[in-house]
Amino acid sequence: MIVAFAQTKGGVGKTTLAVNLAVERVIRRRRDVLLVDADEQGTATDFACLRGERLGSTGFTLVQLTRGATVRTQLLTLKDKFDDIVIDAGGRDSGALRAALTLADIAIVPFQPRSFDVWTLDKVAALVGEAKVINPGLRAFAIINCADPQGHDNSAAAEALAENTEIAYLDSPVGRRKAFPNCNAIGLSVLEASQPDLKACRELERLADRLDTLPPFLSIDDGV
Ligand SMILES: Nc1ncnc2c1ncn2[C@@H]1O[C@H](COP(=O)(O)OP(=O)(O)O)[C@@H](O)[C@H]1O
Ligand SMILES: [Mg+2]
Repeated sequence: MIVAFAQTKGGVGKTTLAVNLAVERVIRRRRDVLLVDADEQGTATDFACLRGERLGSTGFTLVQLTRGATVRTQLLTLKDKFDDIVIDAGGRDSGALRAALTLADIAIVPFQPRSFDVWTLDKVAALVGEAKVINPGLRAFAIINCADPQGHDNSAAAEALAENTEIAYLDSPVGRRKAFPNCNAIGLSVLEASQPDLKACRELERLADRLDTLPPFLSIDDGV
């Protein structure tokens, strides 16, 4: 499965969720995982560096590919060599993001509470629509990251997406939890902390489980 974390906005949690999902698939599912850092900022690469220094081995393979043409050609070469590919697709409308969408099975579009604006949605939806010309099987799902404990945002998000034909709302929010930055900073997933934040772990696991059971088409009716 190729999963791309795709958003033209920065700071929404693409890298955080991408690295945590990559590690989740390695340690919980024993999958052979390729993590593609397609962001020039290289934050996922930094994470892998820290992780390698700390653990001796990252457990996954990391490549940094930031040029659109290279993302596509390399992914075509690599896609059958790994069980799963997780792509951190950078925080702007880049060639790398567009290329990632032309090969991904699933695009996860993280949003932060109250930033569920139509403008950003339309932009990402347009990119998904364009990618589907080449990659008709692409399914895009928006999720809330850094969710407030009250959860009012969930219904607002579902509402904002109700009319969207390209992106469905996936009701698997991830809360704002210190465990994410704390673990990121030492190259670990939240699942590996010495004293794990169980809520963070459960949210990550739930999201990861949902990805494996998503329908093979984009059904808007029930939000997935
Ligand atoms: N669920 C979360 N809870 C708390 N902090 C988070 C969460 N997700 C991301 N962050 C923090 O928010 C900041 C931006 O996240 P990042 O993954 O780098 O976003 P992006 O890759 O979209 O630019 C980072 O400092 C990260 O540690
Ligand atoms: Mg990032």
